[in-house]
Amino acid sequence: MSEIDHETVPVPAAAREHAVCSLADYEAMYRRSIDDPDGFWADQAQRLDWFRTPHKIANWDFDPADIRWFEDGTLNICHNAVDRHVAAGNGDTIALIFEPDDPEGAVRRLTYADLQRETIRMANTLKGMGVARGDRVTIYMPMIPEGAIAMLACARIGAVHSVIFGGFSPDAIAGRIEDCASEWVITADEGLRGSKKVPLKANVDAALAKVPAKAVLVVRHTGGEVAMTEGRDHWYHELSQGVPDECPCEEMNAEDPLFILYTSGSTGKPKGVLHTVGGYAVWTETTFRYVFDYRPGEVYWCTADIGWVTGHSYIVYGPLQNGATALMFEGVPNWPDHDRFWAVCAKHDVNIFYTAPTAIRALMREGTAHVQKHDLSSLRLLGTVGEPINPEAWRWYHDNVGGGETPVVDTWWQTETGGIMITTLPGAHPMKPGSAGRPFFGVCPELVDGDGKVLDGENSGNLCIARSWPGQARTVYGDHDRFVQTYFSTYRGKYFTGDGCRRDADGYYWITGRVDDVINVSGHRMGTAEVESALVLHPKVAEAAVVGFPHDIKGQGIYCYVTLNAGEEPGEDLAAELRQHVRKEIGPIATPDHLHFTPALPKTRSGKIMRRILRKIAENDYGALGDTSTLADPSLVDGLIEGRLNR
Ligand code: WT7
Repeated sequence: MSEIDHETVPVPAAAREHAVCSLADYEAMYRRSIDDPDGFWADQAQRLDWFRTPHKIANWDFDPADIRWFEDGTLNICHNAVDRHVAAGNGDTIALIFEPDDPEGAVRRLTYADLQRETIRMANTLKGMGVARGDRVTIYMPMIPEGAIAMLACARIGAVHSVIFGGFSPDAIAGRIEDCASEWVITADEGLRGSKKVPLKANVDAALAKVPAKAVLVVRHTGGEVAMTEGRDHWYHELSQGVPDECPCEEMNAEDPLFILYTSGSTGKPKGVLHTVGGYAVWTETTFRYVFDYRPGEVYWCTADIGWVTGHSYIVYGPLQNGATALMFEGVPNWPDHDRFWAVCAKHDVNIFYTAPTAIRALMREGTAHVQKHDLSSLRLLGTVGEPINPEAWRWYHDNVGGGETPVVDTWWQTETGGIMITTLPGAHPMKPGSAGRPFFGVCPELVDGDGKVLDGENSGNLCIARSWPGQARTVYGDHDRFVQTYFSTYRGKYFTGDGCRRDADGYYWITGRVDDVINVSGHRMGTAEVESALVLHPKVAEAAVVGFPHDIKGQGIYCYVTLNAGEEPGEDLAAELRQHVRKEIGPIATPDHLHFTPALPKTRSGKIMRRILRKIAENDYGALGDTSTLADPSLVDGLIEGRLNR
């Protein structure tokens, strides 16, 4: 462990003075959230508007998994994110600032009143297409306000949104549409990222060649030419003409579904993680309020895409329920130059900035001059999410972007947790670079060893959560058994996160990364089994094993071992072809870094691939392969080491 690991950075005086939550507040609130969860969460829930106030607060069991919160309450999250702010006289507050891909392009500012009007327009357009309460609506959109508006419009009418990241391929879209039997798609003509066009509508067309849909709503964005299928495809600007300008928010039960979001696991196809209205609304409202300590008039910017849970919770639902001004950025950090993030921060006087370690590492490599070019004095709070941040990158971010004076919140959470679970609070906790920090209110982390024994005090183990929290996912869409199997069967009666973790003497948590066959590539979660399935679909591939390896910028890279069918010749051309093939099957985020052709994979005599060995070789750490005596063919290993690609 390096020196820097032991360093503690005190709470900056300015953060302490104004904070919504001091250390004493945190201790008292955390204690109450554990001793009296019903009272605590009933109080937090009061900040929201309910049609019917909940009286039954927590009602859950992890064995088997049956999770309910606020179950006798009714509400609508779109009302809480939009309408109630207008009703309270804040209709003129800016809700969304849109910064386009092109720095010279037109900035859009939508007030809460604008957002209400636009959401109603979209909601009534969807209703006109036949979308009804409970229907699943697929959203495949660029990072433009209409993406958020589409989500809010679904929530308003009680439809369940399933947002698919714009970087996913037609096959991935088709699989997700099919899995949740979604008959409606909202997309745009094209997206723009670093001046490059993303053919969103064409990708939807290719997906719908495989699975049917009743209708596609197309938002015109770039004006690029797209094919429109008569009777199925509709331009939003045409279909929304003349729709009524009123649309009441549906009264939803707290446990009605709000959205499905697909995420990768260690086995099989991506899972449709399902979140419900009430608990998710309370969790995102509360975590945003305390973690980002938002103050009226401030500009908050989360650089995630709405296609990931971070975008759902901390671009759309968390900030908007708090009446905040949130920036939506269409572009990328390195175009037109490596200073784009900082240029945008300065241009819009951003106060709170939330991004991923991979972006920080990539920008750090380009040098601090890009940061110094801009006046970043508006920044008051920085955050990171998605993967462990190495202390060096934390330092660089804190010192250069934050001028050494802003707190940095390193927020650990997952698609399944709905919102932030472990973090420091900016005015309460000293920070330790590389550690996510302390549990949020109501969160009971436990470290468990391989035998299921709960470990006390300073220790390392598998990270479980012992009790339910309001933002927790309720099921895997259409497959509750898989939900139980994946999260509640490894350690009976506990939610298992899939992460390894260390707890230090101060009760700070240090996430060490996944302990299952999930890898984290640039903060994107990827199942190694998914990449393997994609590879073996190629006619020349016999077998594939995929592992992660440490990557300076991406956190982890994708290392693929491939055996070919008899008669096929390995070579650079085939490697390029296989890379392209994986991109087509899953999307560019799954592009293999290394393709290692091997005549066979190392297996035990019973035929099990020895991934431990493959991981070590991919990590270029082949000196300590451990016991290889159970291998069917131990001589294979020398050849693998010889041919290793990550040197
Ligand atoms: C996995 C969840 C949460 C939104 C983005 C990713 C890793 C996430 C941290 C962090 C260390 C982190 C974990 C987790 N992770 N945040 N602050 N420190 N690791 O959501 O795609 O569901 O991935 O991301 O391994 O299990 P996701």
